[in-house]
Amino acid sequence: MCGIIGYVGRASATPVLLGGLRRLEYRGYDSAGMALQEGSELLVARAVGKVAKLSEKIDLTWSEELQGRCTVGIAHTRWATHGAPTEANAHPHRDASQRICLVHNGIIENYRNIRQKLEAKGHVFVSETDTEALSRLVGEFYKGDLRQAVTRALRQVEGAYGIAVMAADEPGVIVAARKGSPLVIGVGEGECLVASDASALVAHTRRVIYLNDGDIALLKADSVQITDIDHAPIERDVADLELEAAAVEKGGFEHFMLKEIHEQPESVRNALRGRIDAQQGTAVLSGMGTSPRELAEIRRIVMVGCGTSLHAGMVGEFAFEELATISSEVQQAAEFRYRNPIVDAHDLVIAISQSGETADTLAAVREAKEKGTMVMGLVNVVGSTIARETGRGVYLHAGPEISVASTKAFTGQVAVLLLMALKLGRSRHLSAERGLAIAQQIQSLPELIEAVLAQNDAIAQVAAVIAPHEHAFFLGRGPMHPVALEGALKLKEISYIHAEGYHAAELKHGPIALLTPGTPVVVIANQSPVVDKVLSNAEECRARGAQVIALVSQTGSAAVADQVIRIPDCDPLVATIPAAVALQLLAYHVARLRGCAIDQPRNLAKSVTVE
Ligand code: M6R
Repeated sequence: MCGIIGYVGRASATPVLLGGLRRLEYRGYDSAGMALQEGSELLVARAVGKVAKLSEKIDLTWSEELQGRCTVGIAHTRWATHGAPTEANAHPHRDASQRICLVHNGIIENYRNIRQKLEAKGHVFVSETDTEALSRLVGEFYKGDLRQAVTRALRQVEGAYGIAVMAADEPGVIVAARKGSPLVIGVGEGECLVASDASALVAHTRRVIYLNDGDIALLKADSVQITDIDHAPIERDVADLELEAAAVEKGGFEHFMLKEIHEQPESVRNALRGRIDAQQGTAVLSGMGTSPRELAEIRRIVMVGCGTSLHAGMVGEFAFEELATISSEVQQAAEFRYRNPIVDAHDLVIAISQSGETADTLAAVREAKEKGTMVMGLVNVVGSTIARETGRGVYLHAGPEISVASTKAFTGQVAVLLLMALKLGRSRHLSAERGLAIAQQIQSLPELIEAVLAQNDAIAQVAAVIAPHEHAFFLGRGPMHPVALEGALKLKEISYIHAEGYHAAELKHGPIALLTPGTPVVVIANQSPVVDKVLSNAEECRARGAQVIALVSQTGSAAVADQVIRIPDCDPLVATIPAAVALQLLAYHVARLRGCAIDQPRNLAKSVTVE
């Protein structure tokens, strides 16, 4: 989604802002823009397309000397919501006097109302965006004090925002504010930055302040003042950024996605580190912050998430039921608060999110807290809003995931859900023997993943079979059903092939009508109590001329398959992780063969911070 970076300091702002925008490119966007303070004037440049286009435009319009002397600015990458990706709709937006500039992430829900009122006062809007309404509103209130004007404007606004604002008449000042859209401040030596994502700051400073909803920050080169909307001062801790600049580089891989797929032995190892008690056959998850009594009282588990995180929750559902004998379900986060969720103090709600910023998942967290339920986060990004608002849970420690297509977050999420299920199981009915057996299998996950990665070239060959097609199916049963959904999601989002994930037994209840000779059908037929039934489903597809690509266990039969990918022999719950890795590689190679923009697929955003 949209990205924000702002800089106030002593260095030339342009390279800092362009560098920040490049770091934010992974979030997905379709236009970009920048505003600089030049003495008591504001300069604005905007371009449709990539940051490189903006950079070219800046070099054509602003001389090197001018860029060198401008040390304050704000910049933005826009993912279109209101109005097409055009230069007029790109941020920064200005007020009527053209002396205030504003960049915005989020959605101003009552912008039509504000716009009508301003138009009645004579304002002539130049864009279709909700953001222009806010920038003009700030201008309406501006009487020489930008923070005051921003505060008054925000009182009239409904919706979500992360904003950075500058006024020509207040050189050396940026005002930033957030509600529902993340913002983090970077505190450097004689310089301050603000960004929607810490990855844009890491090249400059490791000292950060995470803003909370309702915070309004006044940034100068050597100070940060935070207040609430009533101007009451707020103290926020300065935290150390646990992010290496190298972690947000490709490190020799052609794409971030490929790098992240290959990082999984390590990222899963990190998710497991210190969390397995091999003596007791249980898991140690101190972040859950639960007493044995609280654990024993959990009657039901409800997981909420979106996209890949939702699929991880669906695997978790099987794990909680099988290992912990706790009734569990997964709800799409977007629906949770609109369906009157029946949860109470005996339930546990687990919010699953890589970014920790997904608007729907965050809304579900707030709804669950409102209902008095115990809420935990299963989050990757440290310090993210969901991590902070849940207050307890388990971090994935997968490191930054830059590719829009989620890979290492999924395997980390499933690994942690297995640990949670193991812990809950051992606190109830799960025997020490079964606990030990499953703990050992979980512990071996890095090696199981390595075994799949070693088949990269063979998987690339299978990808060549799928690449020419426009439709594909992914079938699985039990815990492999969500893995099939995840495999289909990966393929569709990066290769643009229409891919359907289906329960293997459901295919014949309708979708089988879509099979034509040659249609690729990926069937996950690993070692499990229902493997023969899945193989029969594969036969049914083959009988209709489909090409069957089977994921089978090392020792399993591949008789039904036109193409085979082997996954290690292991427990069916644990096998979901190596199977998912195989499908990630498959999708990657298909997308590569089709020449797609793998790390930044069209229309997609990394972190979906609007509902
Ligand atoms: O950051 P989150 O895990 O909350 O994000 C949820 C989804 O937006 C995300 O998983 C999305 O589906 C990915 N593009 C999938 O690859």
